Amino acid sequence: MVSFSLKDKVALITGASRGIGKAIALTLAEYGAHCIIASRKIDDLKAVENKIKEAGGKADSIACHMGDLKQVESLISGIGNRFGKLNILVNNAATNPHFGGMLTASEGMWDKTHAVNLKGPFFLIQKAAPLIEASGGGSIVNIASVNGVKPGLNRGIYSISKAGMILMTKAYAEELAPKKIRVNALLPGLTETKFAGALFQDEAIYKEALKNIPLGRSAKPEEMAGAVLYLVSEASSFTTGACLICDGGRLI
Ligand SMILES: NC(=O)c1ccc[n+]([C@@H]2O[C@H](COP(=O)([O-])OP(=O)(O)OC[C@H]3O[C@@H](n4cnc5c(N)ncnc54)[C@H](OP(=O)(O)O)[C@@H]3O)[C@@H](O)[C@H]2O)c1
Repeated sequence: MVSFSLKDKVALITGASRGIGKAIALTLAEYGAHCIIASRKIDDLKAVENKIKEAGGKADSIACHMGDLKQVESLISGIGNRFGKLNILVNNAATNPHFGGMLTASEGMWDKTHAVNLKGPFFLIQKAAPLIEASGGGSIVNIASVNGVKPGLNRGIYSISKAGMILMTKAYAEELAPKKIRVNALLPGLTETKFAGALFQDEAIYKEALKNIPLGRSAKPEEMAGAVLYLVSEASSFTTGACLICDGGRLI
């Protein structure tokens, strides 16, 4: 039987206080994982933690700014000390402080985007890999974007960070395979979250965006969770270095 069970697994999901990360955490907990949920705002995390516990799952919250490498390091050392193992890492947190053309972008916008979207996830994997290896191996999923393949208008810097994440996924997949750690990427298309708010607020922009999506609609955050469940469970045991595209056909 194909197994999607995550019983006895410890999973870390960044950016899990809302949107896609929250949906992923709720699903992984439903399938048995003890979810460590992280983001900057502890109160928002606690609300998700309570929701998981009310449904009978296991969860703990840890505040962590992904642009601060000291916090990234102590996130992993804290999990090691407290739980003694880590089997699953979902690098989901991201930011996009600059909605506009690249010609008007400041150095600060560039630095912030790449610090949170690429540097943080890179070092989170670097710090987590020894713990995952010591736990008998596991699975890492990086939440990239269709924009990592086809840049989004006015989202150039963000798109560059996601392209980097896709190559980072492949590079880590090769390096970590001998340690029994699989590394894959999920490439969501337009999904109804706060993050994509700029596209939903303006009806004309939204309608224009839908024209490029063959399924003719945007996704709910929950529609990304099943794909992550597949990638972190034994169901995908021979899959590493892959990009799973969930975009309603955007990249066809
Ligand atoms: N929505 C889409 O259309 C879409 C499409 C393609 C890819 N994606 C990707 O999907 C992932 C999730 O996005 P989403 O749409 O679910 O966004 P969202 O609803 O805005 O959620 C973003 C999450 O990241 C956390 N976060 C933001 N900055 C952070 C930082 N510096 N350190 C730690 N956590 C931080 C936020 O919590 P705090 O505020 O508490 O820190 C929140 O939990 C991102 O990687 C995004 O690039 C989204």
